[in-house]
Amino acid sequence: MQYCLMAPDELEMIFLRQTYGVPHQHGGMLPSELLVFGSLCWIQEVDVIYESGRRFGYSTEVLSRFSVTKDIYSWDLTEQPRDKWLEKNCPNVILGIGDSTKYVGQDMVSISGRVALLIDGPKGPPAFEMFDKCKDEVVVCAIHDLSRRSEKKGVSGGQENMSRTTAEKRFNGCYLEGEDFVARYGYLDESAWRRDYNSREDMTRYGFSLGIFPGGKWRGA
Ligand SMILES: C[S@@+](CC[C@H](N)C(=O)[O-])C[C@H]1O[C@@H](n2cnc3c(N)ncnc32)[C@H](O)[C@@H]1O
Repeated sequence: MQYCLMAPDELEMIFLRQTYGVPHQHGGMLPSELLVFGSLCWIQEVDVIYESGRRFGYSTEVLSRFSVTKDIYSWDLTEQPRDKWLEKNCPNVILGIGDSTKYVGQDMVSISGRVALLIDGPKGPPAFEMFDKCKDEVVVCAIHDLSRRSEKKGVSGGQENMSRTTAEKRFNGCYLEGEDFVARYGYLDESAWRRDYNSREDMTRYGFSLGIFPGGKWRGA
C-alpha cells in the first residue's frame, strides 16, 4: 500500500486552497499527515471519519475544511476549549464527549456508510485495542504518535514506549516518514513547526508519526 504515502496533485491543490492558513493548534497533527490521510479517505470513498482525540480541534477543523467525507464524528474525554467554535463553524462535524474506547465497536456498526478511524488519543496499546475492536468494520485506521524516534527516546512516564515496534508486529501498514515524505510534503508543515517547536530538528523528532492500517472494508491491494 505504498501509494498511501502520496496524495494526488488535484487533492493537494484543494487541500491548499481550503485549509492553508488554518492556525496550527498546540499538540495537533501535522498538515502533511492530514493531507495524506484525507486523500486516502477520498480515494477509498470513505463517508465518515471517526476521530478519537480532538483537544483543540486542529485535525478536526482541517479535515472538516478539506471536505473529503460527508461527516466527521469527533470524540474527546471531556468538553474541549474550542468545541463551541467547531460546532458553529464546521457544520460537517459532530462532537462526542466521553471515552471513545467504550463506543468504538458499537458505533462502527451503527454508522451507515464507509468509516475511517483516526486515533490521536488514547495513544499506544489502548489505541491498538480500539482498532482491534472494529478492524473488520472500518476502511482504514490511522494512529498518531508512532514514530521510531519517540521510541528511541526510551522510557516515558516510567514505561518503555514500544508503540512503534508493537504496531509493526500487530498490523500491516505504512508510516508517514522518511526523507522522501519530508521532501515532498514537509513544506506544508512550516507554519506548524514555527508555532510549536524551537527548531526543525525538534519537529522532526516529534512529528511525522502517523501509522496507516487498512481495515476489513479496504478496497484493492
Ligand atoms: C494530542 S490531543 C489531540 C490533538 C488533535 N487530534 C489535533 O490534531 O489537533 C489528544 C487528545 O486525546 C484525548 N483522549 C485521550 N484518550 C481518549 C479517549 N479514550 N477517548 C477520547 N479522547 C481521548 C485527550 O483528552 C486529548 O485531548
